[in-house]
Amino acid sequence: MGVFDKILHSDQTLFKNIDALDFDFVPKIIPYREEQQRRIATAIQPLFSDRNGKNLVLHGMPGVGKTVACRHVFKELEEKTDEIITVYVNCWKKNTGYKIAIDMCEQLGYSFTQNRKTDELFKEVIRLLNKKKVVLAFDEIDKAEDYGFLYILAEELYRKTIILITNYKTFLENMDERLKSRIMPELIEFKPYNLPDTKGILKQRVEYAFYPNVWETDAFEAVVKKIASLQDIRAGIHLLKDCGDYAESRSSKTITIEHANACIAKIDEFETLKSTDLKDEDKVILNIVKKNTKAKIGDLFKSYCDSGGKSAYKTFQRKINSLEGQGFVKLTKSQGEGGNTTIVEYKERTKKLSEF
Ligand SMILES: Nc1ncnc2c1ncn2[C@@H]1O[C@H](COP(=O)(O)OP(=O)(O)OP(=O)(O)O)[C@@H](O)[C@H]1O
Ligand SMILES: [Mg+2]
Repeated sequence: MGVFDKILHSDQTLFKNIDALDFDFVPKIIPYREEQQRRIATAIQPLFSDRNGKNLVLHGMPGVGKTVACRHVFKELEEKTDEIITVYVNCWKKNTGYKIAIDMCEQLGYSFTQNRKTDELFKEVIRLLNKKKVVLAFDEIDKAEDYGFLYILAEELYRKTIILITNYKTFLENMDERLKSRIMPELIEFKPYNLPDTKGILKQRVEYAFYPNVWETDAFEAVVKKIASLQDIRAGIHLLKDCGDYAESRSSKTITIEHANACIAKIDEFETLKSTDLKDEDKVILNIVKKNTKAKIGDLFKSYCDSGGKSAYKTFQRKINSLEGQGFVKLTKSQGEGGNTTIVEYKERTKKLSEF
């Protein structure tokens, strides 16, 4: 092979289908999440025989397939029946009752939304949804400013499954008791993928997105190893694309270990951001956890107050939950003499790459 055989022409590309590396792309099959998808389907199943469905909370760390698994089940459901309506809302993007109501109206094709108040809009939503059966997903639910809208939907929809998606295992514990007793959700945990799973998922994505033989074996293996250690498939897909762009920019017909290592080094730079990227108050709290790892949350709150912390206990608790969601601490329940408590363990970890 001559030296120029390994060089790309300007109109050539390594990507067969670059869309497959979009964060919104839903693959035809979602491997390693069959069990979770089956449980989502089981919760929806009663709707097929006109009974009320079960409600769910899907929880797990960033980039472990919660959103994609849910959207995949929705897609299959839409292909199977017109009797069940699916509505998916991202509460990070739509974080107030009003924005959620508008989004739901849009999805339902209802356009008389001008100058209407939130509760009027929800009335319309409920009227429309009660004509059929419905599965609602509220992704990133912990980012919603309040949960009043859930209360209304839980009360007034006849035949429904409500799916709440969150990073926080403890999300349910902090939910208002009246809401909790109306929703009574079943919990589905999405554990991080192990090395073989990570490899399988990234291999599938490489097949969708790149021409055959573009990836040299050792380059792909290096990417898999890095991503398995980060436990975030979103970071993996970002890295696949980055490696492709990097190799292309060097007019290479293959992605080599040198290309992969250069792109992995960029991720390592992100990693060094770690806790330094948190807000000041969160940093103070994380430092207290670091110094007193595996302490009870109540004792940590005391140390926090002693060191001049001004937030109320509820706010402190919310911040600890948020640190858990970002992977900085691990929370475990423990049964003590005076009742249940939460043990907080320090665990430094990367933020979601997508947040940079
Ligand atoms: N089992 C899987 N098979 C194929 N692709 C996957 C799988 N799991 C995750 N992905 C891909 O990884 C990326 C992240 O997944 P997803 O968006 O579902 O994460 P998430 O758990 O919702 O994370 P977050 O809590 O940050 O929202 C997506 O691009 C998704 O397509
Ligand atoms: Mg998600």
